[in-house]
Amino acid sequence: MLALSFVALALSACSVSAAASGFVAPPAELFSPLVAQKVLKTATAFPNPAQYPQYTDRVNGDWIWFTPDQWTTGFFPATLYAMYERTKLCTHSNAGDASQWLSLARTWSTGEVPLETNTGVGHDVGFLSFPFMDELTVDPNNETTVQAVNAFANHLAGRFSPIVGCTRSWDTSDPTDFQVIIDNMMNLEVLFASEKLTGNHTLRDIAISHADKTMVNHIRPDGGSYHVVDYNSTTGAVIRQRTSQGYADNRMCASSKSDSSKVYKHTKKFDYLQTARRIATYFITNIPSDGVVPCPRPADSSAAMIAANGLLLLADQELSVFNFSGSAYYTNAAIKIVRDNTKLAWAPSWQSLLSNGTVNNPQHNNLTGIVYGDYYFITAGNELVSRGLASC
Ligand SMILES: *[C@@H]1O[C@H](CO)[C@@H](O)[C@H](O)[C@H]1NC(C)=O
Ligand SMILES: *[C@@H]1O[C@H](CO)[C@@H](O)[C@H](O)[C@H]1NC(C)=O
Ligand SMILES: *[C@@H]1O[C@H](CO)[C@@H](O)[C@H](O)[C@H]1NC(C)=O
Ligand SMILES: *[C@@H]1O[C@H](CO)[C@@H](O)[C@H](O)[C@H]1NC(C)=O
Ligand SMILES: *[C@@H]1O[C@H](CO)[C@@H](O)[C@H](O)[C@H]1NC(C)=O
Ligand SMILES: *[C@@H]1O[C@H](CO)[C@@H](O)[C@H](O)[C@H]1NC(C)=O
Repeated sequence: MLALSFVALALSACSVSAAASGFVAPPAELFSPLVAQKVLKTATAFPNPAQYPQYTDRVNGDWIWFTPDQWTTGFFPATLYAMYERTKLCTHSNAGDASQWLSLARTWSTGEVPLETNTGVGHDVGFLSFPFMDELTVDPNNETTVQAVNAFANHLAGRFSPIVGCTRSWDTSDPTDFQVIIDNMMNLEVLFASEKLTGNHTLRDIAISHADKTMVNHIRPDGGSYHVVDYNSTTGAVIRQRTSQGYADNRMCASSKSDSSKVYKHTKKFDYLQTARRIATYFITNIPSDGVVPCPRPADSSAAMIAANGLLLLADQELSVFNFSGSAYYTNAAIKIVRDNTKLAWAPSWQSLLSNGTVNNPQHNNLTGIVYGDYYFITAGNELVSRGLASC
């Protein structure tokens, strides 16, 4: 099976570029000189003590800065790694200087190191680990980084209940009320990464158990999803399935298919691919006619960019089973989402790349730039270039 995927990947490299003319054109903004200029400007304004951008104000689009112990802290350093990667993909372009990006990415990651032993972000340690997983692709022997990935993975594994079969998301006053949110799927990658480093298969078992439970209890048959499932930690029984008010729901329904695809990538278990397809179909069929997501407004450009990345990942997995039409279908859906939402949200005068992000609508935090919206905008551009579907 593994060999087969390699063959598929090798084939895809030629078939994608050969068929490239059949794809929707990505928006030029993905590779605007403003991308490198703005990210660099934010990166060189390094605050001391360390603070990280999370979202912008709604009027001028200036970043609002937060102390490191936030679930979003890893996204800015990961953005810098994405810019570093872009210099490799886009030689002779305005992507900036590779060694400068790498050095900034490392400096910005360093502020996260204390969180290995002391953080309040709970299950979101998976997000904190993003830049460290990036560093491993640059220098797999970087000890600081190996240590960080293992520490964050152990932290997440410590929230696993064998009775429930999941890692706990939110802490609750009644400890038998074991709450799991769909977002938690996005944190599983760190468990696979740490398994690779340590050979500790328990970490993989935890990730798979969590994904299996999520498939059964969070994903509805129509591909829609519940945001929160409450389990009883004593019995493992499902108490209720619900959509939490007071939390940004749309970004995460956008994310869950990307995570099913990722788990599929690691396991090649067909159920995950089927689940990812179901979620993707539900998402695509619910996109309004102007292409701006989500359907209940306000718009959320960050959800759009997460969804686009998820669809590209799913497109990859379709290639690995030789489903070329399925792959092209998801690729085009991804490019259209990027195109239509960039058209709405591209914000040249703001510090962020995009506006029209929704951090948390029930708390009225909407119409902002968001650090992970920009991050997934950049990674979508990188993905399209690496597939030969865009040029820098
Ligand atoms: C290793 O990675 C850490 C952060 O991930 C970084 O601070 C450090 O500079 C890196 N070390 C080397 C030798 O590149
Ligand atoms: C493997 O990881 C699990 C979960 O973090 C941990 O409980 C266990 O001690 C680890 N095993 C080894 C041999 O380190
Ligand atoms: C979980 O089950 C136990 C035992 O049946 C019960 O005492 C407890 O109240 C339940 N917790 C919740 C949150 O329903
Ligand atoms: C996008 O944001 C601008 C202001 O930044 C706002 O005027 C506009 O209504 C927003 N569009 C949507 C569809 O939410
Ligand atoms: C290819 O992908 C499409 C879209 O997910 C799916 O409907 C179709 O069943 C797949 N075809 C095969 C042969 O797997
Ligand atoms: C956006 O947030 C504002 C308050 O900051 C709120 O009044 C408005 O209703 C929200 N917009 C939408 C479309 O929900």
